[in-house]
Amino acid sequence: MKNSFRLPNKVCRDIIKYQTIRQKELKKEGINMVITEKIQDAINQQINAELYSAYLYLSMSAYFETQNLSGFAKWMKGHAQEELTHAMKFYEYVLERMGKMALQAIPAPPAKWDSPVAAFEQVYQHEQKVTALINALLELATTHKDYATCALLQWFVNEQVEEEANTCKMLEKAKLAGASVGALFALDHQAGKGKD
Ligand code: FEO
Repeated sequence: MKNSFRLPNKVCRDIIKYQTIRQKELKKEGINMVITEKIQDAINQQINAELYSAYLYLSMSAYFETQNLSGFAKWMKGHAQEELTHAMKFYEYVLERMGKMALQAIPAPPAKWDSPVAAFEQVYQHEQKVTALINALLELATTHKDYATCALLQWFVNEQVEEEANTCKMLEKAKLAGASVGALFALDHQAGKGKD
């Protein structure tokens, strides 16, 4: 891209050199807080999954705007922001543990759904998938005796309980509203006020 910002190659090389030297120094000093490559790579993948989550919620927000359901759109946009904070939490953690960042391309999410129920169905399933990813990460960190990462992941384990509950509740309510336009608009109004 013509106008995108890139660090000069020499600066990139210097950063990598500094990280490598610092990692060796810390190891020599017996400070074992440097993240292992395996955990670092797994968290880098999780960053991608969290960014995809943000994309998915944002795409659903746009879809609901086109359906004149601005309450659902606001609800989805709020959750997209939350997903960005999840990605940033992992991002900062990897750098704090002297790891390397390897940002990957984010897949494009779907752009439309057959109904509000179909959208909530997909986002609920997606959150279940994210829970499985977090659990797998925790399992990996436990196997590697990386207790700092386990502590970080415990926050995400609790967060996923909330995320699944919120999306499941919205799905069930949308199902209850069914074909009733009045009930759907009432639910949309409620969601716009920040009530799940
Ligand atoms: Fe960050 Fe909704 O998972």
